Amino acid sequence: MTEESGLVWGIKESFITYLLNLGDSQYFDDDGAVFVEPNLFRFGLKEVARWDRKTGHGVIEFRGTIVLSAHGGLLYVRITDPWVEFGEHGVALSVLETESSRRIPLVTADTSSFITRDGCRQWIGLPTQLCEEGVMLFNGQYPSGTSMSPITITLNEADIP
Ligand code: HEM
Repeated sequence: MTEESGLVWGIKESFITYLLNLGDSQYFDDDGAVFVEPNLFRFGLKEVARWDRKTGHGVIEFRGTIVLSAHGGLLYVRITDPWVEFGEHGVALSVLETESSRRIPLVTADTSSFITRDGCRQWIGLPTQLCEEGVMLFNGQYPSGTSMSPITITLNEADIP
């Protein structure tokens, strides 16, 4: 069965377990992002125009917002409009910081190997590491380079220009 284009990510397993154990955690999704499971989020495709099918390099833009909140709102993690950039040296995922309209590099993956099946190109379960710029999003609990959840990207051929 042909799958829809999208980005699936779980942020970090132990972070989600921590939140679920807190008791007052709240989850919101909006604008093209959905919870697939409590520890798995899916962002819809926005734009492929800056990604080159021949080289496999460039940016694929996804859209949507996931908010995880707890500790009466003191903990407030928002993941908005993730973009995935494919380059010579792997993959970088950035998110939009809505207050400043800046893009923050959040995690990187070393490999960008993919498979093709059922009319889709898929990068499945790429292991990721936290970027320096993403450390404060998690209150400094995870140092730069910490293993984060793997990302899976599906690009339906019908969406590639
Ligand atoms: C009222 C303020 C807060 C309190 C009392 C608090 C308390 C704690 C405690 C006790 C732990 C250790 C949990 C364990 O090992 O089982 C922890 C872990 C953690 N906290 Fe908080 N925290 C607070 C605010 C925040 C904020 C604002 C963030 C921002 C995202 C945050 C992110 C984390 C993370 C990422 C971990 C590590 C979870 C893991 O992977 O094991 N915390 N916190």
